[in-house]
Amino acid sequence: MFPNPSWGLLQMAATQDVKGKGEGGDQNFDYMFKLLIIGNSSVGKTSFLFRYADDAFTSAFVSTVGIDFKVKTVYKNDKRIKLQIWDTAGQERYRTITTAYYRGAMGFILMYDITNEESFGAVQDWSTQIKTYSWDNAQVVLAGNKCDMEEERVVSVDSGRLLAEQLGFEFFETSAKDNINVKQTFERLVDLICDKMSESLDTDPAVTTGAPTAKLTDSAPPLQQPACNC
Ligand code: GTP
Ligand code: MG
Repeated sequence: MFPNPSWGLLQMAATQDVKGKGEGGDQNFDYMFKLLIIGNSSVGKTSFLFRYADDAFTSAFVSTVGIDFKVKTVYKNDKRIKLQIWDTAGQERYRTITTAYYRGAMGFILMYDITNEESFGAVQDWSTQIKTYSWDNAQVVLAGNKCDMEEERVVSVDSGRLLAEQLGFEFFETSAKDNINVKQTFERLVDLICDKMSESLDTDPAVTTGAPTAKLTDSAPPLQQPACNC
């Protein structure tokens, strides 16, 4: 659904959208990626975002109402990438609101809880929601969260990996609590988006001169780094 012929246009539109809102804070960035975290209620979406953005975790469960977002800036070579990360409510009653935000998202983290069979069973439905409401080129990483709870595991690593393969998604088991694979999940998603953009823009010399295997970092690059391939 909603095919978009150009990631370049999408990126420009997203950038202008945020600048136009006068979001406050630093608006100096090269790219803005809109990401969404989706999945059943209580799988750990909010906790995952808090761990990534604030390096914090709480065991209290406050179910998200509607939708919320946080912003984090990362660097890939000399390019400054602003991530606008939307944390959606997993509860069914908010589905109409949350799916309205799928359009324009460049990447999704689709999360289930390895201790909750139902949340794993729902992955297929969430995947269908992505196909229905988002851009064709949106990238998806499947995350099996709460992997610190090994004793209560009901979904095997192999089942998660197999489902991800079948759906064509990347896969990580994660723990927001113990900070396992949280940063890696976001980094992989950003890399996938950058690769997709490069594919679409490979005739533009401005985006093809960088090193393709550049690592993503949280810190600003020193001056005069080589150009990014995003
Ligand atoms: P909704 O907002 O209702 O969609 O839920 P959510 O997916 O945002 O879940 P949330 O992040 O609020 O976490 C639900 C519960 O799981 C909370 O009690 C968290 O502390 C707990 N939790 C989240 N991530 C982990 C994890 O990696 N390990 C463990 N052990 N608990 C976690
Ligand atoms: Mg939440």
